[in-house]
Amino acid sequence: MERGPIITCILILSIATLPVYSQYYSKTVPYDPKPEKITNLHFFFHDTLSGKDPSAVLVARANISSDDSALVPFSSVFAIDDPLTVGPELTSEVIGNAQGLWVSSGKDIPTLVAFFDFGFTKGEFNGSSISVFSRNPISETERELAVVGGRGKFRMARGVAQLKTYFLNVTSGDAIVEYNMTVIHHQD
Ligand SMILES: *[C@@H]1O[C@H](CO)[C@@H](O)[C@H](O)[C@H]1NC(C)=O
Ligand SMILES: *[C@@H]1O[C@H](CO)[C@@H](O)[C@H](O)[C@H]1NC(C)=O
Ligand SMILES: *[C@@H]1O[C@H](CO)[C@@H](O)[C@H](O)[C@H]1NC(C)=O
Ligand SMILES: *[C@@H]1O[C@H](CO)[C@@H](O)[C@H](O)[C@H]1NC(C)=O
Repeated sequence: MERGPIITCILILSIATLPVYSQYYSKTVPYDPKPEKITNLHFFFHDTLSGKDPSAVLVARANISSDDSALVPFSSVFAIDDPLTVGPELTSEVIGNAQGLWVSSGKDIPTLVAFFDFGFTKGEFNGSSISVFSRNPISETERELAVVGGRGKFRMARGVAQLKTYFLNVTSGDAIVEYNMTVIHHQD
């Protein structure tokens, strides 16, 4: 029964290999740019706050009364899972969804900051998504959001989204927004 040496071996091996996995690792090399493509996407975004099945729901709001009458009082945080469609009607073909948060961030002028991931479920970009992190000055009918990244076919994406409010219900806050996104991303 030569178990002693085997156990010793296992012990030595684990002691010898463990520190390797727990080492901090970093390597910097010159950047070798990959070929890039530019893609334009056009769709409609449906942010529905009202009804039995809203796609945008309030998750938090500070207890301050100064802004009570506003449609989305300062500090309101909404979680969204908003459908993206080909046409302005909610019944038109769904091509993806925008998931994330928006926060009412303007104390004087109604402004939102959007933290959205636009995921696509149809065609060439099925499974890929585009990240937007940007101020959204909703009082302007035409506005622009910054595209800061992407996944899948949209790896290393950067660009802009041009927005135009197509419909806004000032009572409920329900909105339909036309999006034109222009994104530069890796080719694969
Ligand atoms: C909100 O603030 C008011 C005034 O400070 C206070 O009376 C009230 O209890 C607060 N409500 C909640 C839910 O914290
Ligand atoms: C999108 O991708 C998913 C997962 O790979 C797949 O189940 C689905 O059929 C695809 N849809 C289309 C329209 O290609
Ligand atoms: C998107 O682009 C089309 C074609 O260039 C244009 O007709 C439309 O007004 C644009 N929409 C927005 C929201 O920029
Ligand atoms: C706007 O929203 C209110 C409250 O949800 C609703 O009663 C009204 O019918 C809506 N108006 C339109 C034009 O959708």
